[in-house]
Amino acid sequence: MKIPQINKQDLIILPLEKSETLPSGPLAFEDGNCRMLQCKYHGWTYKLDGSLWGVPRFDRVDLFDKKDYGLVTVEIDFWEGLIFVRLSKGDKNLSSLFKGIAERISPNKLDKKKFYTRIKYEVKCNWKTYVDNYLEGYHLPYVHPELCDILDVKEYITETAEYHSLQSSLTKELGEFYKNDGSVFYYFVYPNFMLNILPGRLQTNLVLPLGINRTLVIFEYLYDDISENALEKIKADIDYSDKVQQEDIQICEHVQKGLESKAYHKGRFSVECEAGVHHFQSLLKKSYKANLNL
Ligand SMILES: [Fe+2]
Repeated sequence: MKIPQINKQDLIILPLEKSETLPSGPLAFEDGNCRMLQCKYHGWTYKLDGSLWGVPRFDRVDLFDKKDYGLVTVEIDFWEGLIFVRLSKGDKNLSSLFKGIAERISPNKLDKKKFYTRIKYEVKCNWKTYVDNYLEGYHLPYVHPELCDILDVKEYITETAEYHSLQSSLTKELGEFYKNDGSVFYYFVYPNFMLNILPGRLQTNLVLPLGINRTLVIFEYLYDDISENALEKIKADIDYSDKVQQEDIQICEHVQKGLESKAYHKGRFSVECEAGVHHFQSLLKKSYKANLNL
């Protein structure tokens, strides 16, 4: 994967204006390249370093200095070819969140993957319901029986690290496409990011809350080979993942209804199968305590 030439101190686009009279507006509606950014609301233009350049019909505004109204600076960092943006100050760096993952999946190297496509799913459940579901293989035989044909469920393991957890399984048969080396890795990186790694491919999932019971999940697919020759196999991989995702969406939406029932109180964890869910919920409790003064 090609890493764009961005320096850490570079400014990143955020449609934020500090004006008291104008609300923030959108700078872009789609991906792409441009030489200047123009707000689609009142036409303010910004240079790519984030500084405000043009402000239509503002000549008569006193004490207005464009230097005070540039875009907001945010922090970025890289890990294995992926770019991460942090909107608010935090004390954790990427290396502590991802510690040990690159070594564990070796010789599979993520920074060699090439971006293929992005698919978005909206799910009618709380984001934590979606993450809980991701973090256990307990439901595989009942929700995804077809996955049990390729994963050895008896050898399904869960490991936890400080800020991430791993579900891994030996594969029975992944077929020629994946050049089967016997392992698949499902990493969850706290609080809302997943790396689904098979030989030859990386699929990332970003889980974004849209409301109390609405969640957006963004899948990105990256492969070692995205040439014409590989397209048929890539399509088969994406179709298979989509089938599994539709099954997960359906069960998450049913579970959300159950959680909203007055009859629901609390559940218990399976020691054998739900160490990842317990790990996630423990980190979440710590975050709530730290940030909500509980
Ligand atoms: Fe699932």
